[in-house]
Amino acid sequence: MKTTTLSLNREAYLRFLAETLEQDSLESVRRHLAVLDQALAEPPGALPQLFAITEPEAAVDLRPDILRAELKRISKAHTLNRARHYLRQLQAAACRVRTTGINDINLCRWKEYDEVITDSLWLVDRRDNSGAHLGWYWGNFIPQIPRQLMLRYTRRGDWVLDPFAGSGTTLIECRRLGRHGIGVELNPETAARAADLVQRAENPYGVQTPIFTGNSAAFDFAGTVKKLGIDRVQLVLLHPPYHNIIRFDNDPRNLCNAPDVERFLDLFGRVLDGAGRVLEDGRFLAVVIGDRYARGEWIPLGFYCMQTVQKRGYLLKSIIVKNFEETRGKRRQKELWRYRALAGGFYVFKHEYILLFQKR
Ligand SMILES: C[S@@+](CC[C@H](N)C(=O)[O-])C[C@H]1O[C@@H](n2cnc3c(N)ncnc32)[C@H](O)[C@@H]1O
Repeated sequence: MKTTTLSLNREAYLRFLAETLEQDSLESVRRHLAVLDQALAEPPGALPQLFAITEPEAAVDLRPDILRAELKRISKAHTLNRARHYLRQLQAAACRVRTTGINDINLCRWKEYDEVITDSLWLVDRRDNSGAHLGWYWGNFIPQIPRQLMLRYTRRGDWVLDPFAGSGTTLIECRRLGRHGIGVELNPETAARAADLVQRAENPYGVQTPIFTGNSAAFDFAGTVKKLGIDRVQLVLLHPPYHNIIRFDNDPRNLCNAPDVERFLDLFGRVLDGAGRVLEDGRFLAVVIGDRYARGEWIPLGFYCMQTVQKRGYLLKSIIVKNFEETRGKRRQKELWRYRALAGGFYVFKHEYILLFQKR
């Protein structure tokens, strides 16, 4: 969703808020704010000084829709004290930055981050197919997944590690958001095509996004990050094959060719150990995984993987259920699965898990 911002002269805006704070009745606070609201609706209204910006440093960029909603909230306050409390919040939003340290979300302006999901159920109706996100790789994930995770768990300039890089979705998103990314992919052809596409994607922040061809279960992550001039990464994003649901190739080292679930989890655990070792303490690790069926039985791969991570001492922070409802085509297939479900006594699974852990 496109949102617009409005540049206001910071000093004039703060002066206006300070004057409003000095009002000694709710009525006069409301009258004051009505002038500001009118000026925001039809700039410059009665406040030309608010829009007079001589240099960019003198400006504060605000979302007019959110600011006007705040003005409404203040005007509806039942007590002068409450109204003043909200006014002080507006002051802080214009001049303070408060973050958790693991992302760039300014908590003083948290209402402006409506793109960032905080619920555990993600219903996504459309894949982001823009730019380099071509969606050519069978088994890729929707770019919204790495995007959301990076917005929540990384800052600009941080490093993200994706040991199952596939078509490079994570790395393309890294470039868009100004995060460095390291990808490792076993299949040489996939890795080469991904590297080529990632290289061609726009890189407005000039970040590094190399893809290495290699087996993540035995990869030298520590040596690789060292060569890149860093000690640690700030986010690990694991999107392994959902065991043998998709056969990516015939390489026995590919997790899709593990002969059984135990062996799959063993290989997954090795990747986890290697990648987790270079993750900075206190930072996050995410696993994107779906379940599967085998001989009429639901195999909860997601829960098995969750336990595999927990056993290594990570703190489970969230279990997100994601459902992606592709709106195009597939109607006949959907009907077939519905029939099978009705006849076979099971539910058609469409959801996947995004499991979030913090390294203690
Ligand atoms: C589910 S896909 C990841 C797709 C990726 N997120 C994307 O959007 O394109 C899993 C990928 O892991 C790769 N893979 C499987 N076993 C591997 C291993 N041992 N080392 C490195 N990559 C592996 C597969 O070849 C496949 O491309």
